[in-house]
Amino acid sequence: MTKLDKYSKISILWDVPSQLPWALGSSPRATGQRTHQKADRSVLDNRRILLIVSGGIAAVKVPDLIRRLRERGASVRCILTRAGAQFVTPLSLAALSGDKVYTELFSLTDESEMGHIRLSREADVVLVAPATADIMAKMAHGMADDLATTALLATDKPVIIAPSMNVMMWTHPATQANLATLQGRQITTVGPGAGDLACGEVGDGRMAEVPEIIAAVGRLLRKDNRNGPLARRRILVTSGPTYEPIDPVRYLANRSSGKQGHAIAAALANLGADVTLVSGPTHEPAPDGVTLIRVETAIDMLKAVRAGLPADVAVCAAAVADWGVSNPAPGKIKKGAKPPTLRLAPNPDILATLSQLSRGRPKLVVGFAAETNNLLKNAKAKRAAKGCDWIVANDVSPGTGAFGGDSNTVHLVTADGVEDWPTMRKQAVAERLAARIAEALSA
Ligand code: CTP
Repeated sequence: MTKLDKYSKISILWDVPSQLPWALGSSPRATGQRTHQKADRSVLDNRRILLIVSGGIAAVKVPDLIRRLRERGASVRCILTRAGAQFVTPLSLAALSGDKVYTELFSLTDESEMGHIRLSREADVVLVAPATADIMAKMAHGMADDLATTALLATDKPVIIAPSMNVMMWTHPATQANLATLQGRQITTVGPGAGDLACGEVGDGRMAEVPEIIAAVGRLLRKDNRNGPLARRRILVTSGPTYEPIDPVRYLANRSSGKQGHAIAAALANLGADVTLVSGPTHEPAPDGVTLIRVETAIDMLKAVRAGLPADVAVCAAAVADWGVSNPAPGKIKKGAKPPTLRLAPNPDILATLSQLSRGRPKLVVGFAAETNNLLKNAKAKRAAKGCDWIVANDVSPGTGAFGGDSNTVHLVTADGVEDWPTMRKQAVAERLAARIAEALSA
């Protein structure tokens, strides 16, 4: 099967117009812009969040916040203040968090089972949402007159607050002074946003929306990772397919979902690396803490990769189209009696370009080999032809589910030989590869 058949399927696209990806508007975003979206499952996975709920109307958003944090693999333990309990019940928080909800400082059972010191230490991050003017004032002045404020004073973990209050309370010099004090102590703030407030007034003071809070918690956890084994390493990752325009509404593409490349970017970031992910259009969420650069064509992907240099490591996981249309039509091609003929021109090979850089070549360049036949033979030949250090070889034959699926069976081809890895979820493949990269760099 040729590359053309394997990825681009031109004949099929033209014969079955309903399969044409007409609606660029509904395609994954591909704006070529640098974005920094940070909410991602992996960085929150297995992280423990102590959520302090103080007494504001925005506490009604807390059940959704807990649900979304847990969806991303985080465990959530709640402290509910007396005022918070006016807006949301301990029972609902317990049901959603799957854990006991702590309310009283002087509770004999709570203190003996889980004292306030342990509560504040057995977390990776402390999140105060909503954070009222009152709790901010208490935090700023080191007051500790209930369980929430005592835990906040006792914690040695990063703290993030999501303020929520009336606009006049927010802009009041006392609150702003307290905010400055807290920020001076490295406490992170998310929001508040502007809009209609529950009190009927309009302005700043709305608690940040749940996705924003989750993104901010993710960023904080990432920062906390700065002493990981890949700290201070710059890593470039390519991911996803490329779209090669035929005319303004049609393009040639392939079946890459970007799952593996995005998972690799996330796993590297989780080990502390400074990751730039250059991705073609995908539906994958932007991994936390990764600089994401969205591109469409192979030519743009190469430009973005070059702009991302210098890097210690490059991992090319993108399924770059080998050819682009050499003469994309400026206007939509009308359906005539005769189907149009497309002339293709070779695209730059990004992996080979990086591997063969005479100056500024990353120390370690890792490519992928997507093969349907003679997997290892082709993968070894690809490694030699392109000049990269490692090749992650995977069988993308129909039925393996590798393209678009969640699992992958890969073989790592290096100068020392071939490692056969068992079938794993793409996230596990990514974690293993990230660990191998960290090991190689430290060697
Ligand atoms: N690659 C690249 N730029 C291209 C084509 C491929 O950077 N224009 C990279 C891919 O990201 C991958 C590796 O090269 O890391 C191999 O891609 P693959 O599609 O398996 O192979 P091709 O080089 O396209 O060769 P063939 O289609 O003949 O298998």
